[in-house]
Amino acid sequence: MAYILLIGNGAREHVIAEALKRSRHNPTLFSCMKSNNPGIASLSEDILIGGYGDLEAIMRFAVSHAVDFAVIGPEDPLSNGIVDALNATGIPSVGPTKNLARLETSKSFTRLLLQKYQIPGNPQFGVFSSLEGIETFIDELDGIVLKPDGLTGGKGVMVQGDHFHSKEEALALCRAILAEHPCVVIEEKFDGEEFSLQCFCDGATVLASPPVQDHKRRFTGDRGPNTGGMGSYSLENHLLPFMEARDAEEGLAITRQVAEALRAETGEAYKGIMYGGFIITRDGVKLLEYNARLGDPEAMNILPILKTDFVDVCRAIIGGTLANLSLEFERQATVCKYIVPKGYGLPKDHPDASSTSSKIDVGNVKDVRLYYSSVDRRAGGLYMTSSRAIGVVGIAGTLEEAEGRAERAVQSVTGPVDHRPDIGTKELIGTRIEHMKRVQGKR
Ligand code: GLY
Repeated sequence: MAYILLIGNGAREHVIAEALKRSRHNPTLFSCMKSNNPGIASLSEDILIGGYGDLEAIMRFAVSHAVDFAVIGPEDPLSNGIVDALNATGIPSVGPTKNLARLETSKSFTRLLLQKYQIPGNPQFGVFSSLEGIETFIDELDGIVLKPDGLTGGKGVMVQGDHFHSKEEALALCRAILAEHPCVVIEEKFDGEEFSLQCFCDGATVLASPPVQDHKRRFTGDRGPNTGGMGSYSLENHLLPFMEARDAEEGLAITRQVAEALRAETGEAYKGIMYGGFIITRDGVKLLEYNARLGDPEAMNILPILKTDFVDVCRAIIGGTLANLSLEFERQATVCKYIVPKGYGLPKDHPDASSTSSKIDVGNVKDVRLYYSSVDRRAGGLYMTSSRAIGVVGIAGTLEEAEGRAERAVQSVTGPVDHRPDIGTKELIGTRIEHMKRVQGKR
């Protein structure tokens, strides 16, 4: 038996809950959620609805249920120090302490860590706490990326060419960032194809899951504003169509060095997820950022095909015994497409923006997994609440079949919903391959 506290209320935590419940250890789940996710609630023995800042309430809930350990889904509770608070009551977690979660919560911390320990993957970058020196630094770079130094829900990064064009606009944005954050990190802009490498770390050993590609842009053809992620895919050969095995190995090698550097720098063992957002450039694999948690949607690509018992994985992370575990994934392709309200990601004054809280009917979907996110089950049925609503995951022997399954299921959902039909399709994958060839042709 295992008594487990799960914190989080999105589709990522729904798939975590499912992976835990599949365990041969027959775990009992107790879930702490900001809002009631009906998928997680149906897998839980008891739930606590409340904010992730109320550490006292979460600890009382955990202690009253005598949980063996906690699994922390999102970044907010990590940043609030929930792991430190639980540790103090003798409850270990899959998730780093507040100090170690700086890997995600402070972009400057991570860039400076890689620099100090001479770990490859950094761009040219500068950390600025005032406007002084920014103009000169910007002049040295061909293209730039601006990152507020703090949590931004995955939507704070501003890229030249997309979010701004001129030096004057960049300076104005830096001024705005510095009004709200202690620092701005300014980086060289990379050209290439991105991949997410979600790794499990026990402080010493780092094990990787198959690489996944996310789709941040709201609309088909990678147009529109950045979102939390509209969907993602992975391949049956555990690579991506534009990458070689050595690219994934480079990402893993960087992550292993970062885990060691974190230990040397803080004296603490990082126990949790190290999710590296990497980009393959003409000069090899570069690091975009780390997250201290699983990706959303990317968790939905890897956990359903995890063959190793997930409770064993969690216990090995906590106990420092990952080196003794063989981490195995099914040789299956996966495609996740998020069903979102039509108004998701649109400006508030857009005519469709009002459809964010409406009833949807999932119908009789077959051959896919459904993971609930911002939905509420009421007497009248299932309602979308505000953000991404349901992750639909097709799993099959080939990408084509996995995409077909996900797309057919998404099409059968009725209500004021939208999704990206192009995720996982041959056409979009073709553009990724062509892009990678163009980038590498520059070698
Ligand atoms: N898929 C992006 C993220 O989880 O931050």
